[in-house]
Amino acid sequence: MKEEKTKPGENKSDIEGRDDIEQLVNTFYGRVREDDLIGFIFDEVAQVDWETHLPKMYSFWETVLFGTGSFRGNPLVAHAKLVPQTEMGRSQFDRWLSLFHETIDDLFDGERASHLKRASEDMANVIYSKINGVPDPRFDPANLTPEQRERYSRYRSSEAAASS
Ligand code: HEM
Repeated sequence: MKEEKTKPGENKSDIEGRDDIEQLVNTFYGRVREDDLIGFIFDEVAQVDWETHLPKMYSFWETVLFGTGSFRGNPLVAHAKLVPQTEMGRSQFDRWLSLFHETIDDLFDGERASHLKRASEDMANVIYSKINGVPDPRFDPANLTPEQRERYSRYRSSEAAASS
């Protein structure tokens, strides 16, 4: 496993390619495995085979950032399988996200780093809401501006019209 090449506070560059993604993923899962709230889900509940999981995650994030990864998988099924076995609630997803964002911030800085933070947040919300059968928190009216609320309600009524 590669060591962190950049320490917090040093000059950081953006995520440039596969090597950077490997460093990010290795550092992130190193932290996840130490985490008191979600570490055991990987090592004890799912008993993850890291030799397989880490390269899969390099390809996943490479696909997201550069469109060149060869990720094949089904993240919704992988996480839905965990729901009967352990709590996969808001606090677990929030912890996952804060560890991921902190790792990105510790190692990188730039457009792609910011994009990855936004993309992972969107994906976490989708996965969390689908596997738990609850509304996506991004669309909770309490979190929307009046303009967003109006746009979202138009979207919902056009969706309802399309499916009837
Ligand atoms: C509470 C939060 C989370 C937990 C505990 C968790 C745990 C897991 C576990 C145990 C696996 C299966 C690994 C294996 O068996 O090899 C997995 C797969 C995966 N996770 Fe997560 N995960 C979480 C959140 C996320 C989020 C937010 C994302 C994306 C932004 C993500 C992306 C993935 C992907 C892409 C896979 C591979 C899916 C596949 O094999 O098809 N995870 N996760």
